[in-house]
Amino acid sequence: MKACSKPNIPHHWSNFYTVHAFRGSGDEMVERLAHYLAESQGKQRDFVLPYSTPFERLSYWKSRLNNSVGAKSGALWKANFLEEVLAQSNRLHDPRYLGHQVAVPLPQLSWLQAATSLLNNGMAIDEMGPASSPMEEAVMQELAQFMGLGSAASGILCHGGTLANLTALLAARQRKASGNPWKDGSERPCAVLVSEQAHYCVDRAVRVMGWGAAGAVKVRTLANHQIDPVALRIAFAESTARGLDVIAVVGNACTTSTGTFDDLEVLAGFADENDLWFHVDGAHGAAQIFSERNKGPLKGIEKADSVAMDFHKMLGVPALCTGLFYRNGSDAYAAFSQEAAYLYENEQEEWWNLSKRTFECTKRMLSVAVFGIWEAHSHNLWESLVDRLVDRAQVAARAIEQRPHWELFAHPQSNIVCFRLRGSDNAALRHAMLKHGPQYIVKTVLNGETWLRCTFQNPLTEESDIEALLDRLEELKANRG
Ligand SMILES: Cc1ncc(COP(=O)(O)O)c(C=O)c1O
Repeated sequence: MKACSKPNIPHHWSNFYTVHAFRGSGDEMVERLAHYLAESQGKQRDFVLPYSTPFERLSYWKSRLNNSVGAKSGALWKANFLEEVLAQSNRLHDPRYLGHQVAVPLPQLSWLQAATSLLNNGMAIDEMGPASSPMEEAVMQELAQFMGLGSAASGILCHGGTLANLTALLAARQRKASGNPWKDGSERPCAVLVSEQAHYCVDRAVRVMGWGAAGAVKVRTLANHQIDPVALRIAFAESTARGLDVIAVVGNACTTSTGTFDDLEVLAGFADENDLWFHVDGAHGAAQIFSERNKGPLKGIEKADSVAMDFHKMLGVPALCTGLFYRNGSDAYAAFSQEAAYLYENEQEEWWNLSKRTFECTKRMLSVAVFGIWEAHSHNLWESLVDRLVDRAQVAARAIEQRPHWELFAHPQSNIVCFRLRGSDNAALRHAMLKHGPQYIVKTVLNGETWLRCTFQNPLTEESDIEALLDRLEELKANRG
């Protein structure tokens, strides 16, 4: 090793770039975050979400900016800044967090995130991520094969399911639409067949590609929110008759509102019969592939041309981290084909230059967390996490069914449960809980009516937390009279 030379850090940056400042703030940070984690896991606060209106919060943060600038000497941020961020944020690590579909991250991944923040390798081309690029290729190939997509399968990591779904549909367009849409634009107006229950990002992707509202053909669903196969055939025939170039069918695995899986076998057969691209939006539920007990609803996923799966939903990875898998790895290059002389030497398939397959140019070193977990645990850690979360939903469903006055929307296939208190204004009930806590749940509208909705993201949620939630909602109802 070479002798250490002392870096010449200009005086006015010495607080920010020195190893001494780094180590000091790191020590403090570890202590503070460990305390925060203990407090959250131990349910020591009176609420999961500190309630105040968006206007009150904006006014708070604006007033801080209006105060004179000046961090404590040696610090990059003001003394109470971190405290306020912690105090005013939604506490996902509290077992009473039963709200949206965001991972309660495996706490130790914070340190890997910290490491990759320090490294900040940009990932666009090989030289910008010499460790994390081949790591991504290796782990994505393995995961694609684990999913059953076959020996030619591969994938990329990107920032979010929204972007993954758009990227998959760009590949679908290039493979299935007439002409060369990437070069010349679409020859005919294109469309995709998608459940009326699909996440809004599919509709948004279609509009981004310039196909307008008509480009997302919303297929009617059955009472259980699965695509109705009869309606699918009719929608296809009608869209084709209207002159639309129907290129793809998108399956839900699972729906955002109720956690319902489309029948992927049926959709795969339909796509095959009609030469359509088959994309699975598995942003939430594709993670169940890791669980022997809970992968049943994903039957048929192995026939998909592409699958989006968020690691930051059921798999404990901090947001954002999404896998986009292709049955034929080469299809990934169809999504984009760009001349960028300063980046690429040619337009060939080069797995090592990842931005040839991603919308992003610079991206975070997303592969590090995924590879680290997979290398150490294979599917086992994710299996136990998925099983625990789905089990929580099943425990909740049983508790709801056992109580008079409560109604369950459907038996959970995933970790999402929709339910309501009969004869109650459920929207008002949820608002009361938002304001007064201590739990945090969300709501949704199904068939024009409001239902309460829980996503079980926290493996530390106990059966007693679920009973306490129902008790509290009953109490809030009683208080409302
Ligand atoms: C089914 C489905 N697709 C896509 C998305 C969007 O994913 P992201 O939030 O990672 O962009 C979500 C988010 O909840 C989802 O549930």
